[in-house]
Amino acid sequence: MTTRRTGDLLITHARPYGEEAVDVAVRDGVVVEVGAGLSAPAGVMDAEVLDAGGLVLLPGFVDLHTHLREPGGEESETIATGSAAASLGGFTAVFAMPNTDPVADTEVVVEHVWRRGAEIGLVDVHPVGAVTVGLAGVRMAELGTMARSRAQVRMFSDDGRCVHDPLVMRRALEYASALDVVIAQHAEDHRLTAGAQAHEGVVASRLGLAGWPATAEETIVARDCALAREAGAALHVCHVSSARTVEVLRAAKAAGVRVSAEVTPHHLLLTDATLTGYDPVNKVNPPLRTAEDTKAVRAALAHGVIDVVATDHAPHAVQYKDTEWAAARPGMLGLQTALSVVVHTMVEPGLLDWRGVARVLSERPAEIGTLPDQGRPIAVGEPATFALVDPDGAWTVRGAALASRASNTPYEGMRLPATVVATVLRGRVTARNGKVRA
Ligand code: DOR
Ligand code: ZN
Repeated sequence: MTTRRTGDLLITHARPYGEEAVDVAVRDGVVVEVGAGLSAPAGVMDAEVLDAGGLVLLPGFVDLHTHLREPGGEESETIATGSAAASLGGFTAVFAMPNTDPVADTEVVVEHVWRRGAEIGLVDVHPVGAVTVGLAGVRMAELGTMARSRAQVRMFSDDGRCVHDPLVMRRALEYASALDVVIAQHAEDHRLTAGAQAHEGVVASRLGLAGWPATAEETIVARDCALAREAGAALHVCHVSSARTVEVLRAAKAAGVRVSAEVTPHHLLLTDATLTGYDPVNKVNPPLRTAEDTKAVRAALAHGVIDVVATDHAPHAVQYKDTEWAAARPGMLGLQTALSVVVHTMVEPGLLDWRGVARVLSERPAEIGTLPDQGRPIAVGEPATFALVDPDGAWTVRGAALASRASNTPYEGMRLPATVVATVLRGRVTARNGKVRA
C-alpha cells in the first residue's frame, strides 16, 4: 500500500454519458478501473473520493474559442481568472485567442500565454496564434515558428477581425496545410459591415441601428471553403450565426472540403429580440440574429453540419460595456454558462443526448484542435479528465458571482438547467461545488 498522490481518485456512482452508474478508479491521472463496488485504486489507501450519486460523467470540455485578455487587457480578464471560470464551467482545455496587447503573433507571446496557463494549472491553455502581424490582415505572421515553439500552436486566427484579403487567406491556408495546423476564420466581410451595429432586419430598422447583413458572413465562408479546398487545408469557421452560412457549410462538407464549424451558446439561445432594451450586454460580433437562425444552427449542431459549441467567452470590463450602444465593445461571457445553455437549447428539446453533448463540447473540439489527451473516452487506460454534471441542478445566473473579472453575462437573472459539480484534469480535481482548487 502506498499513500495518496496527486492524481489518485475514486469517483463513485457516476453515470458516464448519462448511462448506468459505475465507479471509476484513477491512479496517477489515468483511469485504472471502471465497474461496480470499487474501493480505492489498487495500492492506494486514501484516494480522494468524489461521491457522484446520480451525476452525469462526461469527458472534460474543450473550448476552441476563449478570450483570456492577457497580456494587455487585465482589467477585463486574466489567464488566472479566465482559467478559474473555465474550470468551473467544466472545461479542461481552452484555446486562447490572440487579440491581446501585444497581439499573440510571435513565439514570445504565445509561449508566455502557454507558460502562464501551465503555472496556474486549472485548465490546459493553448494559445491561438495570429494569422497576420498585429491582426492587420496584411503580412502573414510566422506561423511555422509559433507551431514549432514550446507552445505548439495548432490553431491560427485573426479573430475579432476577418482575414479579409483573399490572397493573404490563400497563403495562410497553404502554410496551414504544410504545417498541419488549422486556420480559424472570423468570417465577416468588413466592407459589408462598416458601421454596422445589429443584425440587418426588422428589429435593427425599428431601433434605428445600422444593419449587419448575414451575407457578410456567408460570402466569406463560401470564399474560404473554395480556398481551403484548393489548398487541401483545414479551415475552421468561428461562431456561425446564420441559417444561410449553414447551407454553405453543408454543401462544402458534402464536396469533401476540410471545413469544421462552431456555434456559440448565445447564438443557440438568443435573438435580436433582446436588443429592444438597448442594453449593450447583448452586443456581440457576429450579432444575435433571428429565431429562424437559432433554429437552423441548433439543427445543424444536432446533425453535425456544425461540429462544436465554442464559447467566444469575451469578458469586457464595465467601462467598455456600460456605455451607449454604438460605443460598447462587442462580446459576452460564456465559460460558466456554456453547459447550461447547451442543455437548455439542445438536450431539453431532444436535439442532443449526453453522448451528443460529449461530442460537441469535448470530443470534436479536441479533434479539431488536435489535442491527443482531451476528449477521450471514459475507459480504462484513458486520462481521467472529466466534467461531472448535475442534470437537475438548475441555477440562477448572477454575473457578479461568476469567476471572470468582468461580469458581462447576457443571462443575468435567468434560471438555467444543469450545474457543473466538479471538474477533473488528469486525476486532479480542479473545481468542486463552485470553488476552484489550484
Ligand atoms: O463579440 C466578439 N468579441 N466577437 C469577436 O469576434 C471578438 C470578441 C472580443 O474579443 O471581444
Ligand atoms: Zn470572432
